Amino acid sequence: MQPPAARLTLMDRLIQEFDRGLRTVAAANVAARPNPAGASPESVTDPVARRHAAGLMRVNHAGEIAAQALYHGQALTARNETVRRSLLEAARDETDHLAWCEQRVRELDSRTSLLAPIWYAGSFAIGALAGLAGDRTSLGFVAETESQVIEHLESHLHELPPDDERSRRIVEQMQADEARHGAEARTAGGRDLPQPVRDLMRGTARIMTRTAYRV
Ligand SMILES: [Fe+2]
Ligand SMILES: [Fe+2]
Repeated sequence: MQPPAARLTLMDRLIQEFDRGLRTVAAANVAARPNPAGASPESVTDPVARRHAAGLMRVNHAGEIAAQALYHGQALTARNETVRRSLLEAARDETDHLAWCEQRVRELDSRTSLLAPIWYAGSFAIGALAGLAGDRTSLGFVAETESQVIEHLESHLHELPPDDERSRRIVEQMQADEARHGAEARTAGGRDLPQPVRDLMRGTARIMTRTAYRV
């Protein structure tokens, strides 16, 4: 018989998380919701445009790897059970995002970031630290992350090839989901983070997005 989750030791939970991390990075992720690209036809044919779109969607895929890891790191160290559950619920939407981006990158005949294990491990550690700072700070971290992600996705809507309807539909759905995650975190008591922390988050994200575009 499985021990109840509450009685799992920290070591058990770390092993569970390691296993989840491996599966997120290595296995094909399955979305619970249909791909927003739907039946919209493939319209990007120019090789340069396809390569650029693939780079952008690879960045978004890396971002979703990071999002998964942040949420699970935060859930690991969350104090309050309701907060923990809401973090895990948001992480389920991120699995959809991950699967959709992965699918789009492959449609564009490209591959996801080779550095995915690094994005996962680094983000998991950051998430766990945010959780240790207390639930209201951790929720504030979700709200700030999501608002930066929404801005980033908006820039991709400008940068993607104008005719890339399939990528655009995915990015738009992600934006809507991230807005909901951010609003929920704020309503649940997320507090504003100090400006230096926000700047640090932005800087870290910039390193990841620039690298994942290429590698
Ligand atoms: Fe996401
Ligand atoms: Fe999110």
